[in-house]
Amino acid sequence: MRQIEQRAVQAYRNQFLEEPVLVVSAPGRVNLIGEHTDYNGGFVLPCAIDRRVAVAVGHGDMQLYSADFHEKLPLFGKREGSWVDYPSGVVLAVKEQGYYVPPFRGAFAGDVPLGSGLSSSAAIEAATALALDALLHLGIAKKDLALLCQRAENAFVGVNSGIMDQYASLLCQAGTALLIDCRSLEAEPVPLDLAGAGLTLIVCDTQVSRELGATGYNARRQACERAAHTLGVRELRDAHLQDLEKLSGEERKRARHVITENARVLEAVQALQMQDFGAFGRLMYASHRSLRVDYEVSTPELDAFVEIAAQSSALGARLTGAGFGGSALALIRSEDAGVLALSVRHYFEARGFTQPVFYSFQPEAGAEVAT
Ligand code: GLA
Repeated sequence: MRQIEQRAVQAYRNQFLEEPVLVVSAPGRVNLIGEHTDYNGGFVLPCAIDRRVAVAVGHGDMQLYSADFHEKLPLFGKREGSWVDYPSGVVLAVKEQGYYVPPFRGAFAGDVPLGSGLSSSAAIEAATALALDALLHLGIAKKDLALLCQRAENAFVGVNSGIMDQYASLLCQAGTALLIDCRSLEAEPVPLDLAGAGLTLIVCDTQVSRELGATGYNARRQACERAAHTLGVRELRDAHLQDLEKLSGEERKRARHVITENARVLEAVQALQMQDFGAFGRLMYASHRSLRVDYEVSTPELDAFVEIAAQSSALGARLTGAGFGGSALALIRSEDAGVLALSVRHYFEARGFTQPVFYSFQPEAGAEVAT
């Protein structure tokens, strides 16, 4: 059992004075490439990280406990503006699908950084969904659990996000990234043996909270919908570079990002299949440029990290997740990672930016019931 799963079990014992029936954990994710493409019916390439949310569950009285917030709360039927909204939303979504959910209780423990663009919310949703599925023997496929979690996020939590995060948290496999076609919802693992190539992924959490990003996120989504409408296509997935001349202003820039980013994801998958990490890294840099210039979701901190990564001979770097703060990612030789972190720290200090936090990752397993 992972340490975080043991913490959830311990919290359950302490709170409910009995053994849980089972424990489940689900990871956060980092998106390698394919940003703001999921809600345009396009392609994304995330992988799971070794930061997870675990939940120990048993039958009981609809009480949930969070070891991180030291708080025991009942499940709510309405939005509370706290961590309990995520499990509450999932339970509601499961019920709306017609499943009977008898009273249960659970204790959560997690170490996915909050508000960093590493999908702590998808991790708690995915952990809840898989735990309910296992506890109640519902037999729901992981893909359908992901859709339930997305519904919880959209309808209950109120963020109009795409499917990437919940899919990644539930379906990723260790040692691989996951190519998701967000229209057909087919997902296919892509080998990502970084350790074998002497490489590592460094995530730089800029500590600029993404909280205020929700408005910007929804506005980007609406601009894409307007652009698709103007072009007479179902989603920007169906648009081509030559269509851009029919658009202007904001819609044109947003569409250019989506069209080029979708192409980059497919090229990136080919590069990974050929173990061409150099080509992969160049696509990461191009993705960042597009997010900065055309999609306008970067920040000075994220740009600084990407620039310093380039100077520190990282193969590639880009912001990851929605942007508006949160995290950036670099693909770098393991022995160069320390120097990159140090240079970024110095630069941030000199600029008066908040000190960032670094994580180093290898691709991890998706949500699973602990044994
Ligand atoms: C957030 C959303 C995802 C996706 C990314 C941007 O993480 O939850 O659905 O849209 O932003 O790629």
